[in-house]
Amino acid sequence: MSGGDMLDFEIRPNPAPVSAVERAALLVDPGFGRVFTDHMVTIRYADGKGWYDPRIEARAPIPMDPASAVLHYAQEIFEGLKAYRTADGSITMFRPEANAARFIASARRLAMPELPAELFVESLRKLVEIDRDWIPEGADTSLYLRPFMFASEVFLGVRPANEYLYCVIASPAGAYFAGGVKPVTVWVSPDYTRAAPGGTGAAKCGGNYAASLSAQAEAIEAGCDQVVFLDAVERRYVEELGGMNVFFVYDDNTLVTPPLTGTILPGITRDALLALAAASGHQVVERPVSFAEWQADAESGRLREVFACGTAAVITPVARVRHPGGEFVIGGGEPGRSTSALREQLVAVQRGDAPDPHGWVTHIR
Ligand code: PLP
Ligand code: COI
Repeated sequence: MSGGDMLDFEIRPNPAPVSAVERAALLVDPGFGRVFTDHMVTIRYADGKGWYDPRIEARAPIPMDPASAVLHYAQEIFEGLKAYRTADGSITMFRPEANAARFIASARRLAMPELPAELFVESLRKLVEIDRDWIPEGADTSLYLRPFMFASEVFLGVRPANEYLYCVIASPAGAYFAGGVKPVTVWVSPDYTRAAPGGTGAAKCGGNYAASLSAQAEAIEAGCDQVVFLDAVERRYVEELGGMNVFFVYDDNTLVTPPLTGTILPGITRDALLALAAASGHQVVERPVSFAEWQADAESGRLREVFACGTAAVITPVARVRHPGGEFVIGGGEPGRSTSALREQLVAVQRGDAPDPHGWVTHIR
């Protein structure tokens, strides 16, 4: 496919879209990841041919041969970002170029073809435009966009596949945690790690999440909302949560988050918060934080707040930390001042209610 027609999506409108009445009912309380829009994006790839057949079509099951490579060796990557309805009724997307860049980095790690960033962003724009009526209205709501790509070649040999399917689906969303923005309790997994040096921790691939599920189940069993992973080498340093990065706020106004050494996902929310926090007068530091230090500083009161952040979770205060040896509370168990302020600032930029000096927001007609 030549560069010129690369962005020419064939639009095949869904002949039987959900009725306006039914859609309104679905949008009352969509939760997270349960409700889907009328359309999806598909773009195919084959070695020797490149990317071809970009389409917007009715969301539908994908026929798949039982020998499709992804079903056996998990060659799959994905992204997550949101579109918002702004106060004036227009639509924004938050940092789609950053997701495009991370998608390329993930593709490289999983030996998959790189989808050009321009095509990635255009695919999101087209889907949001056709399914704009699915964007819920109101605080804490958005249209969650899920681009993903998998090896579709029918072949059982272990090597990078030579055919792929890229798709985007969209899902109206409320708060990720059932309790809304209430503080959560996290479980520090004693047995499981998420990613080792040289592994796929920095890539957003389905396999990372498959491997995290037992640890997350253990967290739920222990009465917690999310698992926290320690580093795989020393089992000492805090890395991230199952689906979120983590920040520590100290009583001298310093904000600390673990550094990107290749085993944690380079979160786009994390990156945005580093910039927003620095601009609002916090000292911002990327350095390792050990579990022992976390506990000691929480108990001494030096550690004032902890929060998790990510596209789905936005910013969620962490109030309580449970581990096999007991538990401790952060800042009296209430959402902290900096956590709440940063959340407000971030959401205001995302929804087009605040200036956007970094050029993070893409406006859609
Ligand atoms: N860490 C993990 C493991 C995640 O799944 C996510 C969510 O995407 C994040 C961190 C946060 O990344 P982002 O802020 O780009 O959504
Ligand atoms: C996201 O925040 O977009 C995520 O991917 C986290 C989780 C839903 C997997």
